[in-house]
Amino acid sequence: MPAPKSVIIRSVGVHTPERRVTNEELSRTVDTSDEWIRTRSGIGERRIAGPDENPSDMGAKAAAQALERAGLSPADVDLLVVATMTPDLPFPSTACLVQAKLGLRRDIPCFDIAAACSGFIYALQVAADMVRAGRYRRALVIGAEKLSSVVDWTDRSTCVLFGDAAGAAVVEACDTAGVGILANLLGADGSNAELLWAPAGGSAKPASAETLAAREHYLRMNGKEVFKLAVRVMASSCEKVLAEAGVASDQVACFIPHQANIRIIEAVAAQLGLGMDRFPLNLECFGNTSAASIPLALEQAWREGKVRHGDLVLMVAFGAGLTWGATLLRWHEPKR
Ligand code: COA
Repeated sequence: MPAPKSVIIRSVGVHTPERRVTNEELSRTVDTSDEWIRTRSGIGERRIAGPDENPSDMGAKAAAQALERAGLSPADVDLLVVATMTPDLPFPSTACLVQAKLGLRRDIPCFDIAAACSGFIYALQVAADMVRAGRYRRALVIGAEKLSSVVDWTDRSTCVLFGDAAGAAVVEACDTAGVGILANLLGADGSNAELLWAPAGGSAKPASAETLAAREHYLRMNGKEVFKLAVRVMASSCEKVLAEAGVASDQVACFIPHQANIRIIEAVAAQLGLGMDRFPLNLECFGNTSAASIPLALEQAWREGKVRHGDLVLMVAFGAGLTWGATLLRWHEPKR
């Protein structure tokens, strides 16, 4: 197959669990309040998955919606990449479980990417580069998380921030030049890994009676440090990607930032000299859904007509690792 002229996001899909947990409901089990959570984070409620609703289930549903919207069937997919920090199992990958649940072809590559809240941007770039190289025509990229399974529901400084969801994109080779993904950037700084991590549960410290008693298998975060780094790195990632593409920030119709905290997003907007009207938000309803956050926000912005054919869209993320990434694209809806 010849290398394509460009690589586009052809369609998007989402799945969110039914169960809503409001701040008020949380305040009945941990020492917090709706007022504190809203003022410090912008979050009003989050969705919580049921015991039989795992990232592979949510991811498969989001992907099925994206495929249906593109008029495609599972047999049309050549590659599957799943971004998750809450895989269904230590192994095999969540991608292999999604492959089976969706009924994708049995001969395609399927793998997971672990880049926490930057996972969707990482997965998108890896899939897009594989499509750009000409070997695969169409990829499914999924961000799927069940963060409710790794947050410590007794730790008020973290449990109020996260939620469960999945989002998916069909990433496709396109014969029109100058559309789709125009520029991107990925980065990481492992020297700050312990700012946001789970100390136990991996092979370095397998789960044991001691780690369970010490609650070390749950997510831990230095919120203040993560906050400062997130603002700095998300703003500079946007600036670098815009400079690479030769695009001014006010030419971008819609920014899709990782939805972790409204104050982080406001600070990034201010640093770019832009108003919040270009930054659609969904964290009030979903909280931080990690790798699902960007496709969830992108899908909503697209559905509400805030992302239209020909628009420049800039997605930017930051997360545990630490990791970050940004992707600038010209939204393109090919005629069918
Ligand atoms: N309800 C009520 N009080 C709470 C609380 C809660 N849910 N969580 C913490 N507090 C208390 C703290 O105990 C502290 O009390 P103290 O002053 O008596 O010690 C006080 O509120 C202030 O806490 P602090 O941590 O300084 O608040 P903050 O303004 O830094 O906000 C975060 C905390 C977590 C909301 C903020 O740091 C943040 O959003 N960080 C980035 C997190 C993030 O987005 N991570 C994911 C990146 S991908």
